[in-house]
Amino acid sequence: MEDGTRRPMPRIGLGTFGKSGDIGAAAMLAALGLSYRRIDTAQGYGNEGNVGKAVRESGLPRSEIHVTTKIGYENLRPERVAESLEKSLQALRTDYADLVLIHWPHRDHETMPNYLEALRAAKDRGMAREIGVSNFTVALLKRSIEILGPDVIFDNQVEVHPFLQNKALRSFCADNGIGVTGYMPVAGGAVADDPTIRGIATRHGATPSQVAIAWAVQEGLSVIPSSRSREHLAENLAAGELRLDPEELLAIAALDRGHRIIDPETIAPDWD
Ligand SMILES: NC(=O)c1ccc[n+]([C@@H]2O[C@H](COP(=O)([O-])OP(=O)(O)OC[C@H]3O[C@@H](n4cnc5c(N)ncnc54)[C@H](OP(=O)(O)O)[C@@H]3O)[C@@H](O)[C@H]2O)c1
Repeated sequence: MEDGTRRPMPRIGLGTFGKSGDIGAAAMLAALGLSYRRIDTAQGYGNEGNVGKAVRESGLPRSEIHVTTKIGYENLRPERVAESLEKSLQALRTDYADLVLIHWPHRDHETMPNYLEALRAAKDRGMAREIGVSNFTVALLKRSIEILGPDVIFDNQVEVHPFLQNKALRSFCADNGIGVTGYMPVAGGAVADDPTIRGIATRHGATPSQVAIAWAVQEGLSVIPSSRSREHLAENLAAGELRLDPEELLAIAALDRGHRIIDPETIAPDWD
């Protein structure tokens, strides 16, 4: 930030994977109308143009909306980091992103200094307010900190939901001042089938998705649920108001079974 302070992100943002075409753009605009103020996109989602359109059409000041994008795996060569980010910013119709992440670590760990330094250089040029990573393990984060130094990586975006709680990774991030954004916070909708979560939801007059989101927020995460339904988008954002009690948090802690949904064979790292 211009004054040197680091601005926290809204705890509940909008996931946009699959939100392409006119329907995707309309859904993003609707979400901004519902008071979402954080949008998560990626070069690989093919919808940065929709984000730019929705932000523009919302009439909201750019400074009120937190935009995250991610550098695609194919753009990790150092010169491609800045070139591809330049194209992303054009599509997003903005001259900066609030947060730019490396979407997936390169399988060849030797290349890490090159693409991380290129990302830092892009930030230094004003293209990103903050930089971070996604799908990085503890070992990869340790290496990243060796390369960039402490307090540079703002956030690590990883899969977290009640069935994959990623506790060791989250604890490492907390100890090193790295925020964690949990993706797939409602486990693609599967939280609705869990009796413990359903019971807690009933007690609060809430929905299972709201319980999963409230759990993540109370655990100190930010989350980016996605939905095609306006009703679900509204309830997901409202989950920020729900407070679970300590027994309920413990009951959800017991649901961890290491169930990973996103695990692409060709690029996934050796998970924690
Ligand atoms: N960094 C990465 O590698 C990575 C990987 C995966 C995802 N992400 C990000 O994380 C975002 C979220 O992930 P995701 O969309 O795959 O999973 P998700 O948000 O956990 O689940 C979306 C699914 O859950 C349903 N759902 C959402 N809210 C609901 C509610 N309140 N009640 C009932 N069902 C609900 C949706 O159905 P309806 O449409 O019917 O509501 C949709 O089928 C993505 O959009 C993307 O931005 C990042």
